[in-house]
Amino acid sequence: MTIRTKPAEILPLNTILAGDCVEMMNSLPEASIDLIFADPPYNLQLKGQLHRPDNSEVDAVDDHWDQFDSFAAYDQFTRDWLAAARRLLKPNGAIWVIGSYHNIFRVGATLQDAGFWILNDVVWRKSNPMPNFRGKRFTNAHETMIWASKSEGAKYTFNYEALKSLNEGIQMRSDWVLPICNGGERLKDAQGEKAHPTQKPEALLHRVLIGSTNPGDVVLDPFFGTGTTGAVAKMLGREFIGIEREAAYREVATARIAKVRKFDREALTVTASKRAEPRVPFGQLVERGMLRPGEMLVNQRGQAARVRADGTLATDGFNGSIHQVGAHIEGAPSCNGWTYWHFRKDGQTIPIDLLRQQIRSEMT
Ligand SMILES: C[S@@+](CC[C@H](N)C(=O)[O-])C[C@H]1O[C@@H](n2cnc3c(N)ncnc32)[C@H](O)[C@@H]1O
Repeated sequence: MTIRTKPAEILPLNTILAGDCVEMMNSLPEASIDLIFADPPYNLQLKGQLHRPDNSEVDAVDDHWDQFDSFAAYDQFTRDWLAAARRLLKPNGAIWVIGSYHNIFRVGATLQDAGFWILNDVVWRKSNPMPNFRGKRFTNAHETMIWASKSEGAKYTFNYEALKSLNEGIQMRSDWVLPICNGGERLKDAQGEKAHPTQKPEALLHRVLIGSTNPGDVVLDPFFGTGTTGAVAKMLGREFIGIEREAAYREVATARIAKVRKFDREALTVTASKRAEPRVPFGQLVERGMLRPGEMLVNQRGQAARVRADGTLATDGFNGSIHQVGAHIEGAPSCNGWTYWHFRKDGQTIPIDLLRQQIRSEMT
């Protein structure tokens, strides 16, 4: 499936592009992508084989695509792909980059140098990390993700309420405890070996995409590997573009994504951010005759204020907005007037927020 962004410019949606990510990104139209999730080579610099106490060999990341001659070479590579990524992002787009202590500090500095604006670093704490077999260092139990907007002041997507709901009503923190990818989710090759050494868990991408994209957004992953980003994007009704240099990984990813079923529309609806809801001034309730000038509003203790024609309230010599009058009565620095004030109808007291919701439902 493809869509046109500008005449003669085609975005290859839900496709895995074969080749080098910088070259491929440079072939795509500028400012066309909502979110980039990047899991670049970590430059692990492993020296020799690593063995477990029973002498079995640890299946570490020693692949050729993770090898760089020097930090300088890695930094140049990072600068190149981040420049290509930044060109692709829409002005309000954002990027996530995941890495370990081997590379994430270098990536972080390069992101800032390139003009990105770091919003958070999220620590993915692995609930089942690999032990430190030699006992010479701490168990390396986390990876770091940097979340950055294209530039300072950009209106990036953040589905605060949806993330809070995902966390049972508690504000989502920047430390995420999730298991590494294993069991049935871990893709295997024909020999029963791991198909890819660094396959990321779908749960991680689920949280990233729910939190920082909306259905229909275009998500690009320039280091696609087994296509975890594409698989979760498809489930969640987002469009994806993957880039991967290695044919074997592209094949694994293609087969994996073909089996994924998109969740239905209803399931994809998430709790809306209050910020995203259209603003309704209290005065509109008065203008539309839902509340009449002179009508009394009451708080839960029955203390009253009178509605005025300009959408303010008056009580005991104090006038102001619904919020200011509520705060004045409570002696509090602030007050949410929408939930504080009630109107009376048929012997019942009803929060004025209900009237605001009625107006909002007409707006969507
Ligand atoms: C850390 S892995 C990503 C794993 C992926 N997140 C997953 O869940 O399967 C990095 C991937 O980037 C690919 N790669 C490395 N350098 C590349 C480049 N310059 N262009 C395109 N792909 C590249 C590697 O082949 C490897 O599959």
